[in-house]
Amino acid sequence: MTNRKGDILFEEIRSIDAEVFELLLLADPSKSLVEAYLKQSEVYTASLNGKLQGVKVLYPLSLKTVEIKNVAVKPDLQGQGIGTYLIERSIEIASISGKLSICIGTSNTSVGQLYLYQKLGFEITDIKRNFFIDNYSEPIFENGIQAKHMLILTRQLNDERKN
Ligand code: ACO
Repeated sequence: MTNRKGDILFEEIRSIDAEVFELLLLADPSKSLVEAYLKQSEVYTASLNGKLQGVKVLYPLSLKTVEIKNVAVKPDLQGQGIGTYLIERSIEIASISGKLSICIGTSNTSVGQLYLYQKLGFEITDIKRNFFIDNYSEPIFENGIQAKHMLILTRQLNDERKN
């Protein structure tokens, strides 16, 4: 699926090059976890004049729910709305494909991301306690605190009762 916002091109890609993979590691430092979920996911990039700007990974969590496993924007381009657009497009893609909800997981330490996701209509629905301690070889620190728990935020899409 291809889409444009201004001069920025959003498209699904079939192969992951080193630049895209490095960007994925910005959102998720576990190479093995990223490699594992990429096998079953759809990957979309945002680019301008052929230059990579951002990436997102959509994973079919179940028949009813899609998960945004990874979303990242190049550090020098953050804060310009690209992340918002990548997430808004994910909501649209999930909705068009008939999913009932879309979710995203982030750390208890990721205050900016938690703000962004809630602003886009996601609500905290679950917590995976000690996820970042149990699944990552190195401790992760962000905003001066240790990442321990994964907060799951969900946005409802189509109402099942209407179908
Ligand atoms: N800290 C503070 N505020 C933030 C942060 C942050 N880390 N990220 C987003 N925001 C705020 C912005 O200030 C902005 O606020 P405003 O609308 O009031 O002006 C709002 O969120 C929207 O910002 P965008 O410009 O649309 O977001 P951006 O293009 O920067 O993309 C993203 C957001 C993807 C989180 C980007 O900052 C990034 O790549 N961060 C590093 C990787 C990362 O943490 N990815 C998410 C991990 S969780 C996961 O992948 C499932």
